[in-house]
Amino acid sequence: MRKVDVKTGRSYSIYIEHGIISETGKYVREITKAVRAVIISDTNVAPLYAACVQDSLNEYGFETSVFVFEAGEERKRLSTVEQMYAFLAEHNITRGDIIVALGGGVTGDMAGFAAATWLRGISFVQIPTTLLSQVDSSVGGKTAVDLSYGKNLVGAFWQPSLVLIDPDTLTTLPDRFMRDGFGEVIKYGCIRSKALFERLADEDSPDLDEIIYECVSIKRDVVENDERDTGERAILNFGHTFGHALEKLYKYSGITHGEAVAAGALLLTEITERKGMTAPGTAEKLRSLLIKYGLPTETPYTLKDILPATSGDKKSSGHKLSFVFLRNIGDCFIYPVRISELEDFFNLMGKKSPVSKAVG
Ligand SMILES: NC(=O)c1ccc[n+]([C@@H]2O[C@H](COP(=O)([O-])OP(=O)(O)OC[C@H]3O[C@@H](n4cnc5c(N)ncnc54)[C@H](O)[C@@H]3O)[C@@H](O)[C@H]2O)c1
Ligand SMILES: [Zn+2]
Repeated sequence: MRKVDVKTGRSYSIYIEHGIISETGKYVREITKAVRAVIISDTNVAPLYAACVQDSLNEYGFETSVFVFEAGEERKRLSTVEQMYAFLAEHNITRGDIIVALGGGVTGDMAGFAAATWLRGISFVQIPTTLLSQVDSSVGGKTAVDLSYGKNLVGAFWQPSLVLIDPDTLTTLPDRFMRDGFGEVIKYGCIRSKALFERLADEDSPDLDEIIYECVSIKRDVVENDERDTGERAILNFGHTFGHALEKLYKYSGITHGEAVAAGALLLTEITERKGMTAPGTAEKLRSLLIKYGLPTETPYTLKDILPATSGDKKSSGHKLSFVFLRNIGDCFIYPVRISELEDFFNLMGKKSPVSKAVG
């Protein structure tokens, strides 16, 4: 059993343990006197795990019900949340009751948003079942839904009261989503942990529990320093400005989020390395690791396509875009670039220096 405590506006614990979902009731009972618990899950996850979670909650005296929505990012919308509100109303869910989000990031973000807004806020528990949600979205209290104008445009900061991570749930996760999650895992290594990066690179099948624990610990540290995302939390965005642009260029199909972040991170690091801002050899190390985890190292798109597609990125503030550059593996810094100077900046940076031209 591994445990990570998070000290934010609301403090909570994250438990990582094989089979822990079958003990959900015990852990939830420790943090609430709620009479009712509503499990929110999607059409892929509910048939696999909802009964186990529900049985355990029943055992600890909760009156339970299950709300299931159709799986997929397309459903991460206000219309689905509205259906949740109707369900909560019909089941007389009061402010003392609790929501249990069981699923990937889509479920967690949306159930969290419903919890943040139902009766002006009720407690919720995260039981993430994808690698991405276990290492990233279940921790930190960002909840959201998408609009047709863009992803995650409507949301709230609303911390969970408990996070239960059961690595056994990953046994049913399709490979594509495992790879996707590894895109984010590698990101953590790049920005904060050379040791994690090296373990991923050196070991044949690194211990997944330990990897999840390390990623969650890094996210905890960053979120504790910057709960509302006004400073340091931006480092979690490494590879994401280009990654989001790539997702947009692919029209959100044919490339997953983690794949786009991977390709974006590598392109960015190649550029900053050429410019001398990143230690020599860093991009090559990143490239090898991405290949090892089946992540893309290139796309059909060049900076010419990518730069215009970065405008409107959520991480822009005023007229600047905040990039995250690597100084070295495990060491990063935030580098704001004026949007009006974006092309100059990257064109300039993209040019090989005469020396590197001479050698090859
Ligand atoms: N809140 C945050 O801080 C944060 C951070 C990163 C990403 N996100 C959000 O997370 C979302 C992506 O999360 P995701 O990749 O987990 O997507 P997801 O929730 O759609 O899950 C991916 C797919 O896997 C299925 N699935 C989930 N667990 C499974 C399991 N154990 N076995 C079999 N199938 C399973 C789901 O039904 C879905 O089809 C995006 O909407 C993104 O915006 C939020
Ligand atoms: Zn991401």
